Amino acid sequence: MLMLIDSADLKGIRRIYDMFPVDGVTTNPTILKNAGQSPMEQLKKIRAFIPHGAQLHVQTLSSTAEGILKEAEHLLMELGDNTYIKIPVCNEGVKAMKLLSSRGINVTATAIYTAMQGFIAGKAGAKFVAPYVNRLDNIGFDGVEVAKNIHDMLTCHGLETKVLAASFKNTQQVLSLCEYGIGSITASPDVLEQLVNHQITSLAIQDFNKDFSDLVGAPDKTMLDF
Ligand code: G3P
Repeated sequence: MLMLIDSADLKGIRRIYDMFPVDGVTTNPTILKNAGQSPMEQLKKIRAFIPHGAQLHVQTLSSTAEGILKEAEHLLMELGDNTYIKIPVCNEGVKAMKLLSSRGINVTATAIYTAMQGFIAGKAGAKFVAPYVNRLDNIGFDGVEVAKNIHDMLTCHGLETKVLAASFKNTQQVLSLCEYGIGSITASPDVLEQLVNHQITSLAIQDFNKDFSDLVGAPDKTMLDF
């Protein structure tokens, strides 16, 4: 399962890249607003920081397919290869997905709330389709189930498109999709950190350290000291 960082905050991106095996960064206009910087400058900083070849997903804003195509060209020119053009699913968006994909440009369909939207975007050639798991939960649907349905439909119809599940608020949502074999997820630095940290693990580490200190009769010793 690919794991991406859903953030434009360089500090958070650096923190996660330092520690975890991640595959790239996803952004959207709200995420860029939260970073509070000029959008293209911030995206260029992120591109410069992440490893060569890592994915960077950037959303278009145009309401027509023609406009989306122009934006895509601009984004690829400014941010280079392995930039995924994120396009919200709507009529003009799907039209743009079809055109861009036929030209070999990587497309990520976003703002997906139904399984059928995910399927149509996949059929239009999107490499990734991004159902909004937690937002679905918040409006009374089961976001994990929608993501699984899309995964199943894409698989059983032989489409290469992968689910890029997005909008997570807790680790259980990520776990359920990982167990199911979902292709990829993107989550905030906070949620990604919670996938590793556990209070009981911290207590176990404390106990091990204390036992070692008792054994050697001094605190803060490691194997290097012996
Ligand atoms: O990538 C889409 C995602 O950022 C939406 O997440 O947390 O705003 O529901 P959220």
